[in-house]
Amino acid sequence: MTIRPVRLAINGASGRMGCALLSLLGEDNRFELVYAVVAPGSVHDGQPIVVGDALPLRYAHDWTQAPALDVVIDFSGPAGLTTALDHCLAHDAALVSGTTGVDAALEERLAAAGKNIAVLRAANFSLGVAVLTRLLREAAAALPDWDLEIVEAHHGRKQDAPSGTALALGQAAASARHSTLESAAVYNRQGRTGERVDGSIGFSVIRGGDIVGEHTAMLVGQGERLELVHRATDRSIFARGALQAAHWLAGRTPGQWQLDDLIAPPR
Ligand SMILES: NC(=O)c1ccc[n+]([C@@H]2O[C@H](COP(=O)([O-])OP(=O)(O)OC[C@H]3O[C@@H](n4cnc5c(N)ncnc54)[C@H](OP(=O)(O)O)[C@@H]3O)[C@@H](O)[C@H]2O)c1
Repeated sequence: MTIRPVRLAINGASGRMGCALLSLLGEDNRFELVYAVVAPGSVHDGQPIVVGDALPLRYAHDWTQAPALDVVIDFSGPAGLTTALDHCLAHDAALVSGTTGVDAALEERLAAAGKNIAVLRAANFSLGVAVLTRLLREAAAALPDWDLEIVEAHHGRKQDAPSGTALALGQAAASARHSTLESAAVYNRQGRTGERVDGSIGFSVIRGGDIVGEHTAMLVGQGERLELVHRATDRSIFARGALQAAHWLAGRTPGQWQLDDLIAPPR
């Protein structure tokens, strides 16, 4: 039996993540790229795709011209994600999205979309970070009295701190301890801070050079310490993770899926 490749569209195809996806797709026969979408008015609109192996496609902006497809991978922005979501809902296609900065109204629409189509979103498409999150959840619950500190390091051009991934790790640990990030997080320590508050989660931030992204979750007990560390050395990990998610999601039942669903269940 021949299994046909997954028919894929990329939304945000000319961006940093779009280019990373296109350059991986040339050598990945699990997929057939059928549409590559950019912003309306983009300088790339109508131009041939020249990233990676030659792909017989041009960038486009008009979803009404899209051929039949199985999955859309979106790394565009909230406006782009909105149109991609409309297309997926109208044509029963699955949606993988890494777009961040989504407002409450769009969050609500995406949550409702899970009733009709398969949707998988992640703020970080690294499979290593997905496993780190699972391990941290388990460790935080198993060692409820140990102090938890999260340290993250990124390149100097990063605009926000702590990183979205560090916050998501804190959130996962807090809920594993039946707490919330809002009540547990400590972001600043300077001057006379007083003693550490039991149950708090401290965040420390390092910025410099070309660090792609590092996250350490430190669980500190009396006389011993457990450290869970993830180091990203190449941005293509996010594109690889998104492609793995798209392959897993194609043909799946409607729902709001997460990266944790596609890594093997714990034994
Ligand atoms: N979850 C993760 O692992 C992860 C990793 C990296 C980035 N991200 C997120 O992914 C998003 C994109 O990141 P990036 O670094 O690739 O951004 P980028 O380099 O600025 O690229 C954005 C892309 O989206 C396109 N675009 C903008 N508006 C659009 C619209 N209305 N419809 C269709 N396409 C549209 C742009 O087209 P033109 O420029 O050609 O006009 C461009 O191709 C951001 O939200 C970022 O935070 C997530």
